[in-house]
Amino acid sequence: MIAKISGLRQTEHANDHEERQMNDVVSPSAVAEKLTDHWSPRVIAEVDNSYVKVAKVKGVLTWHSHDGEDELFFVLKGTLRIEMEDRDVTLNAGELFVVPKGVRHNPVADHECHILLFERKSTAHTGNVVTDKTRSIEEQLGSAR
Ligand code: NI
Repeated sequence: MIAKISGLRQTEHANDHEERQMNDVVSPSAVAEKLTDHWSPRVIAEVDNSYVKVAKVKGVLTWHSHDGEDELFFVLKGTLRIEMEDRDVTLNAGELFVVPKGVRHNPVADHECHILLFERKSTAHTGNVVTDKTRSIEEQLGSAR
């Protein structure tokens, strides 16, 4: 069976409630609201070689960097602080920030926060650091169980 989830072809593990057509309208806020695990991004769209993801976050992720990839954070709800070695930035709902490639960063949410991410498909969301918060791309695509 071939189904499409968030515009992505999935050949297995497709759940009926997650099936969408490639040109469906997606509400990032609605998808984020339904997420249950913190720091577990969910892919909601595909743009050429990049993914748009949403995540529900709380607490600290982990210090990491992405050597060849920029990473965009956009806050849907709440407040996110992105710690970097030379400064921190604080993003409120409706604000975005791009962490430049190679810059070490650590996202922190003192209270639960909903974010949208735009990053290259090859980007590992915790960089080359593996922690208990690290999620595989299959998990982020919603196809892992
Ligand atoms: Ni990152």
